[in-house]
Amino acid sequence: MTQKQAKLILDEKNQIDLPIIEGTEGEKAIDIGKLRSSSGFITFDPGLLNTGSCFSQITFIDGEKGILRYRGYPIEQLAGKKNFLETTLLLSRSELPSSQELKEFIALMDQFQELPKSLEILVDNFPRNGHPMALLGAVVSFLAGLNPQYAKKTITEVKDQEFVLAQLMSYLKLVLGRFYRTTQGLSLEGMKQISNENYAGSFLTSFYQNNNTSILSKEAFEALDILLVLHADHEQNCSTSAVKFVASSETNVYASMAAGISALWGPLHGGANEKVLQQLELIHNDGGDVKKYIAKAKDKESGFKLMGFGHRVYKNFDPRASIIKGACDSILAKLKVQDPLLTIARQLEEAALNDSYFKERNLYPNVDFYSGIIYKALGIPTSFFTPMFVIGRLPGWFAQWQEQTQDEKRKLVRPRQIYTGKNSRSLK
Ligand code: CMC
Repeated sequence: MTQKQAKLILDEKNQIDLPIIEGTEGEKAIDIGKLRSSSGFITFDPGLLNTGSCFSQITFIDGEKGILRYRGYPIEQLAGKKNFLETTLLLSRSELPSSQELKEFIALMDQFQELPKSLEILVDNFPRNGHPMALLGAVVSFLAGLNPQYAKKTITEVKDQEFVLAQLMSYLKLVLGRFYRTTQGLSLEGMKQISNENYAGSFLTSFYQNNNTSILSKEAFEALDILLVLHADHEQNCSTSAVKFVASSETNVYASMAAGISALWGPLHGGANEKVLQQLELIHNDGGDVKKYIAKAKDKESGFKLMGFGHRVYKNFDPRASIIKGACDSILAKLKVQDPLLTIARQLEEAALNDSYFKERNLYPNVDFYSGIIYKALGIPTSFFTPMFVIGRLPGWFAQWQEQTQDEKRKLVRPRQIYTGKNSRSLK
């Protein structure tokens, strides 16, 4: 079959044919790989809104239709039916694990049920008022030191890659639990080791054992597990692209994952969940006048945005937000939590969805809009919200990084630019 070509007319004399490529869901792209060498032109696409950076078989999103699938499975089918570890293996190995495969992965993770002393010292010496995202970045870099055999170069053996994944998933959870306890002045004595079998449960237990045990319920574990599954991957988003961008220089996996953490921290990306809650608190403390803040968000001079609204890809609805909204109602009811911020969130959503500014720009609540209310109901402090997103997104970063390491045609990422500075001049 001959490949379809797109014709690019540059001027009367110059016309070039560019191959058209198509994905399995009908997404079309123009392959501009030879554009510069054959014409001298490059493309200009700030923010890469129209640029496909890779082939990928992991996650499919149709932003117009509100579709999200991991390895072909719709997110609505996975959330609540497959747990976070099953989802992790689905992303990285491309099929759901058998019960034996799952057991083996849990056993691998359970080798890291206890933090090494050196890592405990690092956590305990981290400034109490420092942001836990900075701590996570430091810990991931520290692990490069702890595992020098995996930090010399890109690791390509799946066995080695899964060791790194299992250790990261187990340790980062324990690090957050330990840091939470130290910031709250809670004792670290007599902490029991917990199996990763129920990952969400072991996570919350690392926060609350011997202390706030009333939160440690089946309902809470299930709510957190769903949140983690919903965050597990989101194709070539900012942090995943950062992971792959850095990995393209053939640096080690820890350096790449640390880049993902740094990118996720920003308020336009994963950091939005923290900002949403701060914004809801601000509105609440200001008397709960939702209309005032809707007006402010529409006023470009104000510099104020409605956090948790809008998405680069979803222009209809964010399927994760729909699931979270339902989970939010049920977990608050089950935990008997009455949160006035939820009322404000609902009012904001309703007001925005009926406002022409938001309608015309396709601005809908995204995954971060309701997740913070669930984290809050689970007793998690606001500054830990984005770190929770890190834990959820780790499997996605990892699977996407693995896919890149297996791509024989991978290339160092090195965009070009359109220079708009001064022309050559001489010193006087
Ligand atoms: N509140 C008010 N106006 C907004 C908002 C908002 N949250 N988001 C976008 N707009 C306006 C924006 O000002 C622009 O208006 P105009 O056309 O008049 O100039 C228009 O909508 C298009 O916005 P954009 O910034 O060009 O769209 P984008 O695709 O580049 O940005 C976004 C997407 C997520 C960065 C943006 O919607 C935003 O900043 N939202 C708030 C932060 C947030 O919730 N981020 C979490 C994203 S979901 C979690 C994740 O996957 O990271």
